[in-house]
Amino acid sequence: MAYTPLTYAGPFKYGEKITVFSVKTFNNIAPEGIAVFDKKDYSVGPEQAGPDAILLRSHKLQEAEIDASVKAIGRAGAGVNNVPVDSCTARGIPVFNAPGANANAVKELVMAGLLLGSRGIIPGIKYVDELASLEDNDAMNKLLEQEKKRFKGGEIQGKTLGVVGLGAIGSQVANMALSMGMNVIGYDPAISIEAAWRLSSKVEKMNSIEALFGKADFISLHLPVLDATRDLVNEKLLKVAKPNCKILNFARAEIVSGEAIIKALDAGIIAGYIADFPKPGMIGREDVLLMPHIGASTEEAEVNCAVMAAKELQDYLENGNVLNSVNFPPLSLDRTSGYRLTVCNINVPSMLGSITAVLAENEINVIDLLNKSRGDMAYNIIDVEQQPTESVVTALTAIEGVTAVRLL
Ligand code: 3PG
Repeated sequence: MAYTPLTYAGPFKYGEKITVFSVKTFNNIAPEGIAVFDKKDYSVGPEQAGPDAILLRSHKLQEAEIDASVKAIGRAGAGVNNVPVDSCTARGIPVFNAPGANANAVKELVMAGLLLGSRGIIPGIKYVDELASLEDNDAMNKLLEQEKKRFKGGEIQGKTLGVVGLGAIGSQVANMALSMGMNVIGYDPAISIEAAWRLSSKVEKMNSIEALFGKADFISLHLPVLDATRDLVNEKLLKVAKPNCKILNFARAEIVSGEAIIKALDAGIIAGYIADFPKPGMIGREDVLLMPHIGASTEEAEVNCAVMAAKELQDYLENGNVLNSVNFPPLSLDRTSGYRLTVCNINVPSMLGSITAVLAENEINVIDLLNKSRGDMAYNIIDVEQQPTESVVTALTAIEGVTAVRLL
């Protein structure tokens, strides 16, 4: 395995910041997020060369854009399928996201999608727009009264919503639907304890996605793109869908097969598809409602996401603390005194022994040490009494299996 070069951020004594961190941004990051970084300790913007961190939204980040200087990546949003997470892990770079920060915005758009998919709102608006040249008010009213039967819809109260994926967004969608008088069923084989706590006990648990598809009048998808979820909604699954159900996808384009949706609509298996990921071949159909990817595009969500991701980057750059990373274990330690080393390594036996041996050889006393693994990697925060010299950091970096070392 090839190890990346040392990432060496110091040395500077705790409480005496002498390093100015640089953060490179992609996309429009809300100014409130940028303002998290103290102007005298950080330089932030799209033009930063050799940055310590990257802060981005949906920009598809290429490995070549992640310079050797990069120590952390922050996604101001939920999905990280635009970041090469595996190669970051191998390089000892944590990838942070902002779980829940845009959940309310997405939930509100799903609510709109449910209503737009149930009532003749859009065709009704389009019809009225066509009457702009009609000047006689009475004639217009008469015509509209006569034609309104064409725009009749149904109510969502009493209907069943199936929510696939009950994380921060899915659980809010489920609770919202209950408050609108819907019956809610849910499926999530990997539900976290926090998500389960957030979820109303009125949400009926389904044991399989097929069972959910067979029972729901509306299905809302709230899943990340993973190997296991790519094209999850495919021809086979759609065959077991309850007749005339409508599918809402405000999660990711890749989890749904566009061809399978078109086929199921054409065959009358499903009655509608509502999504913020238009796909060629779907646009213009009456049974499809498509919009740009605007689930998280609200003032509030953009601020929440930018602030959350910026704070996570800041705490990692300054203290090595890890909160809301998708590839590093959560690990935090308050700063008290002394110096802090952080070490990333592959998760194999005797790594910790090799690391502490280097410290012992150099007569460095450990004040506090946290070690946690996640999958194939492990992360250590080590507070020490004496200031490690550059040669200590070099010796730690040279240990086989160590992928990154920082002195903070
Ligand atoms: C997310 O993953 O949080 C959403 O897809 C939002 O994406 P955006 O930051 O591009 O709006």
